[in-house]
Amino acid sequence: MATRILTGIKPTGQLTLGNYIGVLKHLKEETNRGECFYFIADLHALTMPIDPEVLKQNTIDLACFYLASGIDPKKVTLFVQSSVSAHAELNAIMQNYLYMGELSRMTQFKDKSSKMKESAIGLGLFSYPVLMACDIVLYDANIIPVGEDQVQHVELTRDLVNRINNKYGNVLVMPKAEMRKVGARIMSLSDPTKKMSKSDPKGDIFLKDDLAVIRKKIMSAVTDSGSEVKYDIENKPGISNLLTIYAALKDISIEEAENQFKDSRYGDFKKAVADVVCDELGAFQKKYQEILESKAYVKVLEEGKEKASAIANQTLNRIKDAIGLLKV
Ligand code: TYM
Repeated sequence: MATRILTGIKPTGQLTLGNYIGVLKHLKEETNRGECFYFIADLHALTMPIDPEVLKQNTIDLACFYLASGIDPKKVTLFVQSSVSAHAELNAIMQNYLYMGELSRMTQFKDKSSKMKESAIGLGLFSYPVLMACDIVLYDANIIPVGEDQVQHVELTRDLVNRINNKYGNVLVMPKAEMRKVGARIMSLSDPTKKMSKSDPKGDIFLKDDLAVIRKKIMSAVTDSGSEVKYDIENKPGISNLLTIYAALKDISIEEAENQFKDSRYGDFKKAVADVVCDELGAFQKKYQEILESKAYVKVLEEGKEKASAIANQTLNRIKDAIGLLKV
């Protein structure tokens, strides 16, 4: 079977170094493994309140970030989720095959909803993984590169695929989440026991941050007692996080990174981490700016919409047929 690789990013808040290390940085090399589908999950962005202008701007930004990752637009299908109507259509079907119990056990839902009043929790936030499963199965994708926080959703997609295939025959392709060995969960710089997320300005490095700001954030990252640069999540979560960032960006193992800094003090180590982050993000920001100014993303997204729609509609028809929706 052909290798189909698919992943999505939500255009909410500002993208972080976590998104970059967990996924964006590796999108180019994935194109050598199989056919790639990358998309902007704008329907998923609606699951939390968002200003329309911000959503539009974030969508454009994200398109530029995808392209700045170095992918060849001819080799991938890059599209906006809402521009391919099959996602919403399949969502209406699949919401009947995932159940309240399993959806209420999703960590992301529990985290987000626990901070909200019940009267403000939209149904879309609860059924978020249903749409995500649709994103995946519509393209017969078998490899889903994600950070650690999305693995549970891909696991639920696997349950759905099993359920549908047992009931209706082999209709859907089984996907598998793939995480990076180093960097699947980058932590906050201000609280390294928490994931770096789009909503924590102090502990986050945003991809659009000024390089001087990035440097400052790294130099003032929370570190741990002691003075040895050592990977030890329990006792040295701050240093371990910085080692992970360094190793992931340098494409080396944690052990190699530890070795490089075994005689360094925290201050010198942090400076080396800041250098590597600023080098990499500096180049990335330049490419992003060029793509934004040239508007090169417009044509890519238009073509992506056509290519993605053709494939997604075929799958949708296959599913409709299998479950007994009459094609008229
Ligand atoms: P999103 O937009 O929250 O994040 C995009 C990708 O970045 C990864 N990520 C991280 N990786 C390492 N360290 C971190 N601190 C970190 N924070 C985020 C995420 O795991 C993700 O891979 N639900 C998805 C979007 C989506 C999707 C899909 C993904 C919609 N449909 C289908 C894959 C397949 C999301 O909200 O990602």
